[in-house]
Amino acid sequence: MAHTPHQSVLYHEIIHALQPKNKGLYVDGTLGAGGHARGILEACAPDGRLLGLDVDPQALALARKTLAPYGERARLTQASYDSLNETLREIGWEKVDGILLDLGLSSMQLDTPERGFSFQHDAPLDMRFDPASPTSAADLVNTLPQDELADLIYHYGEERASRRIAQAIVKARPLRTTRQLATVIESVVPRKGHIHPATQTFQALRIAVNQELERVEDVLPQAVAALKPAGRLAIISFHSLEDRLVKEFFRRESRDCICPPRQPVCTCGHKATLKEISRKPITPGDAEIKANPRARSAKLRVVEKL
Ligand SMILES: C[S@@+](CC[C@H](N)C(=O)[O-])C[C@H]1O[C@@H](n2cnc3c(N)ncnc32)[C@H](O)[C@@H]1O
Repeated sequence: MAHTPHQSVLYHEIIHALQPKNKGLYVDGTLGAGGHARGILEACAPDGRLLGLDVDPQALALARKTLAPYGERARLTQASYDSLNETLREIGWEKVDGILLDLGLSSMQLDTPERGFSFQHDAPLDMRFDPASPTSAADLVNTLPQDELADLIYHYGEERASRRIAQAIVKARPLRTTRQLATVIESVVPRKGHIHPATQTFQALRIAVNQELERVEDVLPQAVAALKPAGRLAIISFHSLEDRLVKEFFRRESRDCICPPRQPVCTCGHKATLKEISRKPITPGDAEIKANPRARSAKLRVVEKL
């Protein structure tokens, strides 16, 4: 079972960014423990409403408890955020005033050994946010051809030793537990400072198992389509691959023309749909990082629908 409750990252910044108002409709696409969702519901009282999504039934159960005091103002459902438009259609909400995505995993998931996200505990190599989804980290580690495994570790983990790691994994198969995998990686990658050599490979497997980048790419245009004019989209990412996707999408959608810079006349006909609220990402201050070191890599980007 989960031990550590999740501390919502950039909590005040999120409320400030979304500016929830009475009677507004809001979506939290990554409910987790429901901390941000509670803040949004407080700020849009007495009649604002929130749709909360998470793929993890344990997170949803926790969020249900946290948000019980808000009764029917909070509608929680087990769904992936990339089914945003479909889910909104199902509940009959046409357009919304604000959308939050706080990407990645929660402290409950990281600190629950049997979820297999952490090499600090010995547990089955799982890493699925949705335990009913078909592919676990063990499936990838034990079945992918060596080249594909190396590419996955290189692209999603930005790990330069990916070929060496993939070779060692294939040699040591089958690998069933987080500790076995961490030990194999440690045998071929030297420790650098206080960062464990398995960190990037674990990140890569988690991203692949949960199709995190594909889902972020899918949800971005859906979120824009779902917002009312002046509605806001706030996204917190925790690694550069996700942040890059979000940044590039926001940049492109904030411009009227996306023709190559050297082209003298616009032929794309693209029209901006968004306004960037700040060009630079918002990051946690020293006090927040001290109180919650897991917040250190968070980057918040906010846009407003035109
Ligand atoms: C960082 S936590 C969110 C914490 C939350 N903002 C809070 O204040 O407690 C991210 C959550 O997103 C969920 N998640 C990951 N991928 C998802 C997806 N594709 N669709 C919906 N939820 C997802 C995870 O299960 C996890 O509970």
